[in-house]
Amino acid sequence: MNLAKNVSPDDLPCSFVIFGATGNLASNKLLPALYHLEVAARLAESLTIIAFSRRDWTTESWREHVREVLRGKIKGSLDTPVFERFIARFAYHKGDLNDVESFRALAERLPPESACSSAVFYLAIKPAEFGAVIQNLEAVGLNKPRGLNRVVIEKPFGEDLESAQMLNRLLHQYFDEEQVYRIDHFLGKETVQNLLVFRFANTLIEPLWNRNFIDHVQITVAESIGIEKRADYYDHAGALRDMLQNHLMQLLTVVAMEPPPALEADALRDEKVKVLRSIRPIGKRAVHAHAVRAQYARGSVDGQMVQAYQQEDDVEPNSITETFVAAKFYIDNWRWRGVPFYLRTGKRMSRQTSMIAIRFRHPPQQLFRETPLETIAPNWVLLSIQPEESMHMEIHVKQPGLDMDTRVMQMNASFLKTDEQTLDAYETLLLDVIEGDRSLFIRFDEVEWAWQVVDPILKNWTVEREFIPTYPAGSWGPAEANRLFDSDDQTWRNEV
Ligand code: BG6
Repeated sequence: MNLAKNVSPDDLPCSFVIFGATGNLASNKLLPALYHLEVAARLAESLTIIAFSRRDWTTESWREHVREVLRGKIKGSLDTPVFERFIARFAYHKGDLNDVESFRALAERLPPESACSSAVFYLAIKPAEFGAVIQNLEAVGLNKPRGLNRVVIEKPFGEDLESAQMLNRLLHQYFDEEQVYRIDHFLGKETVQNLLVFRFANTLIEPLWNRNFIDHVQITVAESIGIEKRADYYDHAGALRDMLQNHLMQLLTVVAMEPPPALEADALRDEKVKVLRSIRPIGKRAVHAHAVRAQYARGSVDGQMVQAYQQEDDVEPNSITETFVAAKFYIDNWRWRGVPFYLRTGKRMSRQTSMIAIRFRHPPQQLFRETPLETIAPNWVLLSIQPEESMHMEIHVKQPGLDMDTRVMQMNASFLKTDEQTLDAYETLLLDVIEGDRSLFIRFDEVEWAWQVVDPILKNWTVEREFIPTYPAGSWGPAEANRLFDSDDQTWRNEV
């Protein structure tokens, strides 16, 4: 969030090591984000980026690979002095994550502590590999200087409550908490940060933001893509672990949290944890009433037929891994008691849409009962996260004319002015890591409470393994998701 004040150039790291440099995450997110930071002149001159991977490459062939990757992702020419400066920062380090000798060689190529204060280690690897890297970093002394060298961990942090606690114990054995950056890239998205501003910088909104005025909240993250080449990870994770436990739960906390006393890391995280702790635990027998899972079947997305999940490469033929999950939560505190929060996310859905939709209550008195307005629709506030970042407020106005007819007007506020460009969440977050601002990173108690919330669902699904409903690819998910609603006038909102 760039809250870090007066970062001295001496405190900036001068090595940025990417473990898993040849993987999807590095190509899709990290390399473009680092390049954008170069363009914005936010990378210190002394920063070297080291790609750590098992492949038999050299620094030269790696640089060629970066050029290729960015050519597909960056608009405009790459033959510029800025790009040349960027590419010159890279070095390739061939190594095995499980081999301590590879880490010893890495340590030798990093500048000595006397010459540079710190390094960032980015774990863009499978969760199962985190442990080996953490231990090997420690074995060669790269967890020091304590407090300065940083380790960035991608979600999911563990695969359930117990494994998350074990991973955290391991981390804390070798690193101090202030060295650990648990990343949830949704917190870096512009709309999500804007939600904080929308709620806490506008006195107009805050008095309405509670159970007296809000009927329910919906959080949708729908993706039209399938699992791409990630079956190896996804078939064990599923939508609940991949998206709901982290990204959607974080969005829920930002919608529901109390204003923090200050806009700084721990104050924000304290408020988010209070929300997670207030979520009503789902009893064993209530799982069916609170959660729905499903898997995509064959169908048409954007006019193209796509195969069923079970036919994707490397997916177990009878896999019952969910690619869709919808769940209902209640937050038992003064502000939200009785207001359902409906969350859903899925792959291969009709289109890529992520939004937070807040539905307000009906007016207390039906003043227009004798007029055509009898069934007046409630107001909505819609915060769109993807594909565009914007905010919409729906209100009723009278249609001009002799009759008492209304129409719904949308007051639209796009966050971007026409000459502004949006950046991906990763630019913000990588800059925060470099500058040492942890406000948009997750503290372990947030992870722990979020696992606590979804644990009953996970346990139930682990036992019930015979059957999973399906939905056609290209649809809005299974009809079963409608049974979560508390009242007949609640339905999923698919469009802004
Ligand atoms: C990742 C999930 O964390 O977020 C992916 O592992 C998902 O499955 C992705 O596709 C969505 O993020 P974004 O920013 O691309 O919408």
